[in-house]
Amino acid sequence: MAQNIFLIGFMGAGKSTAARAISARYGLRAIEMDEEIEARQGRSVSQIFEEEGEPFFRDLETQLLKSLQREENVVVSCGGGVPMRQENVSLMRRCGTIVYLSAAPETIYARVKDTHTRPLLEEDMSPEHIRDLMSRRLRFYQDAADVTIATDGRSVDEICQEIINTI
Ligand code: S3P
Repeated sequence: MAQNIFLIGFMGAGKSTAARAISARYGLRAIEMDEEIEARQGRSVSQIFEEEGEPFFRDLETQLLKSLQREENVVVSCGGGVPMRQENVSLMRRCGTIVYLSAAPETIYARVKDTHTRPLLEEDMSPEHIRDLMSRRLRFYQDAADVTIATDGRSVDEICQEIINTI
C-alpha cells in the first residue's frame, strides 16, 4: 500500500504542525488541505465559505482527496470536517493510514482562541461551542481512525514519534 498518512481531528488539534514535523524528520511531503484548496481557488477558506457556502467547500475537499489518490509518501493534514463524509474516509483509507489526533476541548480552545481563519468558530469560539461541535464529531473521527494519538500536554516531537512508531 502507498505509504501515506492522513492526519484527522478537530480544528486546532495540531494536524498541520505534526504534518510539517513528520515531513521534516522523515522526508514525507506535507500537504495541508486548506492551503492546497486556497492555492487552487486563489482565495481563503473564509472567503470560500462566505462566497460559495459550506457545501461547495466540502466538495472541494472531496475533489482534492480524489486528486491525491496516486500520491505516495505524503503526509496530509486534513481539514477538521473531512471525516464527516464517508466518501472522504473511503478515499483516505484506500491510499493511506488514517491517524486521529485527539485533544480535549480546553486544549483546542487554548490553541484557537487568538486565531481568525476558521469560519465555523468565528461567530462563537467559546469552550462550550467547541465542546458541543466536538461531541457531534467525535464518533466520525473515531470510526475513521486506524490509529488514535492523544495530543494533550505533549510536544510535537513526542506526537510525531508516536505516529511513526505506531504505523
Ligand atoms: C473545518 C476545519 C478547518 C477548515 C474549515 C472547516 C471544520 O481546517 O477546513 O474551516 O469543519 O472543522 P482545520 O481543521 O485545519 O482548522
